[in-house]
Amino acid sequence: MRIEHDIDLQPFNTFGLSSVAERLVHVGSPEDVVEYFTSSQPSPSLVLGGGSNMLLTRDLPGTTLKIELPGIELIQEDADHVYVKVGAGEVWHEFVLHAISQGWAGVENLSLIPGNVGAAPMQNIGAYGVEIKDVFHELEAFLTEDKSFASFDLADCAFGYRESVFKRGLKHKAIITSVTFKLSKQPSFNTSYGAINQQLEAMGVEDLSIKAVSDAVIAIRQSKLPDPKKIGNSGSFFKNPVIEQVHFEQLQERYPRIVGYPAGEDQIKVAAGWLIENAGFKGKRIGNYGVHAKQALVLVNYGGATGKEVYDLSEEIIRSVQELYGIGLEREVNVI
Ligand code: EPU
Repeated sequence: MRIEHDIDLQPFNTFGLSSVAERLVHVGSPEDVVEYFTSSQPSPSLVLGGGSNMLLTRDLPGTTLKIELPGIELIQEDADHVYVKVGAGEVWHEFVLHAISQGWAGVENLSLIPGNVGAAPMQNIGAYGVEIKDVFHELEAFLTEDKSFASFDLADCAFGYRESVFKRGLKHKAIITSVTFKLSKQPSFNTSYGAINQQLEAMGVEDLSIKAVSDAVIAIRQSKLPDPKKIGNSGSFFKNPVIEQVHFEQLQERYPRIVGYPAGEDQIKVAAGWLIENAGFKGKRIGNYGVHAKQALVLVNYGGATGKEVYDLSEEIIRSVQELYGIGLEREVNVI
């Protein structure tokens, strides 16, 4: 357990926002987790993974825990699958690249998602038709109230769209230390998400492979989403809202080009990017921050903005979307 004081978290969050942690505790092993929570230390103000899904709006008094548990380990194998246990502190995309290099299929559609492995189940990360729940086997977490480790299987995690038990009942009560994935030795490609097929064609791919699908996903993401190393951002800032079919039909009369997809009985998932773009925010820049020019669902920090400024812009977007369409947008990022 390494401890530092008065550390600016700016390099440790993909939005690149400044926020001074009074005490930063680096947690490098399960033993460190036990040591921290059994040595009468105060509850942490924040648990930080890859910092890819948070908006830091203030300095952090007390302790911030930075989860850095390493390791990628093949723990079991049968004719069709491998079971791979990954430390919460591993970088998600590096794990994806490792899986591809080993010929393990299932996470290629999730290439280039920023963040660390331990945070991935929190919000059931997803992209291009695949969610982490589709490749999930189990995870280990330290329960801070019981002061013991517990295993969670698929049902225990209660995954939903950008949701899990770790954002609900177990919020602030569980530290995910490792995740075990069930990956396939025989790929079953998921290229149904329109843009992937188009991209594969544009790349001249004839023999589909997990590497080709990953390359296509990377190319699509790079064309639409800002690289957090260059422009601070947290990916999609809002969730795509799910509304009643009748409400969607009413909106369609006023806005024939509105984009939505069926999402369960009489429910439509609406593209929030479209709502925000149509409300006039796409590419809007105010000083050092704004709305990305190629994807209206992504708010950006061009450098030097504060979390409060970005938060206020998100409030303005929520108000405007509510007024125009009668839809309440929910933030996907965690506001701290
Ligand atoms: N659209 C617009 N204007 C925009 C953006 C989008 O009109 O500025 C419309 C387009 O019609 C487009 C549709 O919205 O066809 C959907 O856009 P896109 O394919 O970019 O996906 P999304 O729904 O905006 C979701 C995830 C992304 C994920 C992509 C691809 C959420 C909140 N976001 O975005 O995830 O990469 O699908 O699967 O579900 C993230 O969570 O951080 C993230 C980047």
